[in-house]
Amino acid sequence: MDILVTGGTGTLGRHVVPRLRDSGHDVRVLSRQARGPDEGVEYVTGDLDTGEGVELAVEGADVVVHCAGSTKGDEDKARNLVAAASRAGAPHVVNISVVGADRVPVVSRVDRVMFGYFASKRGAEHVVAESGLPWTTLRATQFHELMFTTVQQMTKLPVVPAPAGFRFQPVAADEVAARLVELALGEPAGLVPDIAGPRVYEMTELVREYLRSRGKRRPILPLPLPGKAAHAFREGANLAPERAVGRRTWEEFLADRTTSLSQAR
Ligand SMILES: NC(=O)c1ccc[n+]([C@@H]2O[C@H](COP(=O)([O-])OP(=O)(O)OC[C@H]3O[C@@H](n4cnc5c(N)ncnc54)[C@H](OP(=O)(O)O)[C@@H]3O)[C@@H](O)[C@H]2O)c1
Repeated sequence: MDILVTGGTGTLGRHVVPRLRDSGHDVRVLSRQARGPDEGVEYVTGDLDTGEGVELAVEGADVVVHCAGSTKGDEDKARNLVAAASRAGAPHVVNISVVGADRVPVVSRVDRVMFGYFASKRGAEHVVAESGLPWTTLRATQFHELMFTTVQQMTKLPVVPAPAGFRFQPVAADEVAARLVELALGEPAGLVPDIAGPRVYEMTELVREYLRSRGKRRPILPLPLPGKAAHAFREGANLAPERAVGRRTWEEFLADRTTSLSQAR
């Protein structure tokens, strides 16, 4: 098959691309940056926010694995993608979304500022489902990689502010990539069961484990967040404990990061 991966240069996409290539398919990646071909992967320059270059990227694709995303505007990106795909022969669109896209209410200004991402992922899900194209959507919990960057930033402060009552169920991006590839090589399946990490952690627990792995100590200050979206988070809208199919724990992820850091020194 001829497979286009949007976001093939990102945290998730970087795991998806080699898995697809190793399964013997022709892989093309859409990126905003011009890049030469690399290890049998062709790069097409385009921007899903403007639609520029997208038509050329989807041309001849049998499957589009849509991993491109950012903190806002994913609904518009999906709209530009499906419009071009519909004109290019109706490939199967495999879309990655987030657990809680349907459960985190983004109604007030404060919700939009802090949790607008969930609304844009929900919007993107709708665009894909209503596109008339064959589609599959997988919702994942937060990746270890994202939690790591978040906690790393938070712990730069002398006192670490942690949203009170928030829990997360981080999953390895590579495990999500493996499932996406399985879905991309299968039949369109609509909304499939979520993928989530092996354990639910309090935010404070994630921070403490990170600090321990870095040999640091910091006081943690629970920070109550206002709004309906934050309330939904406290109720666990971003979790899927019944879908704890990921195997790699936060502790294992941190241990590997610590090893690669000390090897780099
Ligand atoms: N991170 C998480 O915890 C998490 C959890 C659940 C679901 N997801 C979803 O998984 C997807 C991938 O997340 P990630 O963490 O891998 O993201 P990431 O590391 O930030 O990578 C984003 C990717 O999107 C591409 N991209 C961004 N804006 C674009 C645009 N306007 N046009 C074309 N490409 C664009 C980037 O490509 P270039 O820079 O090369 O253009 C990059 O490859 C997203 O849809 C995200 O919402 C993420």
